[in-house]
Amino acid sequence: MFSRRQFLQTSTAVLLAPMGVRAASTDLVAQEAVQQIAPEGYPTTPVWTYGGNVPGLDIRVRQGERVQRKLVNKLPQPTAVHWHGIRIANAMDGVPGLTQDAVEAGASFNYDFVAPDAGTYWYHSHNRSMEQVARGLYGPLIVEEASPPDVDRDLTLMLDDWRLDPDTAHIVNDFDNGHDLSHAGRLGNLVTVNGRFDPDYPVGTAERLRLRLINASNARIYDLSLDGLTGWIVALDGMPLAQPLPVEGTFPLAPAQRVDLIVDVTAKAQGIASLVSVERDGGFGLARFPVSEGAAATPRQEIDPLPPNSMPEVQYDDAPLHRMVMQGGAMRWLDAAKIGDTELSGRELAQLGRFWALNGYAERPKEPFLDARLGQTHRIEFVNETAFPHAMHLHGHHFRVVLQDGTLGPWRDTVLVERGQARQIALVADNPGDWLLHCHMLGHAASGMMSWFRVS
Ligand code: C2O
Ligand code: CU
Repeated sequence: MFSRRQFLQTSTAVLLAPMGVRAASTDLVAQEAVQQIAPEGYPTTPVWTYGGNVPGLDIRVRQGERVQRKLVNKLPQPTAVHWHGIRIANAMDGVPGLTQDAVEAGASFNYDFVAPDAGTYWYHSHNRSMEQVARGLYGPLIVEEASPPDVDRDLTLMLDDWRLDPDTAHIVNDFDNGHDLSHAGRLGNLVTVNGRFDPDYPVGTAERLRLRLINASNARIYDLSLDGLTGWIVALDGMPLAQPLPVEGTFPLAPAQRVDLIVDVTAKAQGIASLVSVERDGGFGLARFPVSEGAAATPRQEIDPLPPNSMPEVQYDDAPLHRMVMQGGAMRWLDAAKIGDTELSGRELAQLGRFWALNGYAERPKEPFLDARLGQTHRIEFVNETAFPHAMHLHGHHFRVVLQDGTLGPWRDTVLVERGQARQIALVADNPGDWLLHCHMLGHAASGMMSWFRVS
């Protein structure tokens, strides 16, 4: 028996690419382009892209396959690609100054790694990220399950928040302004999905959709809800939930986080379903799903969890606990913090554009925050003493969030720590190398919230 999905896949493959869709190796060209980002009627926007469009090339492999891409840098700045959420070989992690040199304008770099886990990942620039990601340097990296769930459509929706000049539609070139750096980060004035304002994705009545939501914004945290769609959260940050979670009300999506949904269209034919960003003063639609009469679909029943990735056992009861205190920012200004061995006053730091610190360091310190033996389990407690939320991201690993009652929550690679909150994670340090640990509000990372850990 063919499932609906296998049938669609097979027929597409036959029609489009008899030689096989999965070209093993292709260039990933970082290049300038022009795109209609603002609503129709506004001018186009000069952007930076991977392959001529924002989001960049849709990179898609099956679980366990290799990703081979030659980054060709045609931008006027050095750059590098980080493969966010992939439990990757360290040398391929794309962090200039830690795992590789930045790729100069005109130069290239061969990325070649295995994608061990199925799920929704993404890639983005990790050089001058607060500028380069804001200019559009990001794209989806989808790793397909060996047996994907039975859905009618599999849609990747990348959310981004742009700060455009309303007259010219050009990106406002104020990436390092001190107000953004010291407050919530660079918040924009236009939210897009897949590089377009309020795009349409036609669907049929009662269809079942997989929605892969990725937050590529510099700093915006979304509270999302669904209208005319009902279903489950099936994965967070790429990793399947053991039990799908029914979507009720809103769910958060912090910068760099992903959520996979499986939803059924409940809106009627000629109606419109939508993905909604809920704001204090109401909210707005992010993407529309115009509904037409579906083929024969009748509403389906429960879904199964996605097949689990092979993750380590987490025994964290007597794992050493490391506190990472998040300090500074507006309203909690730093008194002092270190850059290297030098202690600077809050005023001196502000003059350098440094407003935040992690455990007293306003820059990635020389010594790792955590020096772990390969295979050891550690607990990290993020203690947010600032007046802002932060999305803390570890490279090269997923971790379990430790819930209030001490039980293990979902696997994640980025955890949102609200103002005044402390959150614990349990990490099995099983991937050797030097790995970043930082806030994914990109302006915060650039202005002090940057650390690292070593696994050896
Ligand atoms: Cu997606 Cu170091 O980041
Ligand atoms: Cu932050």
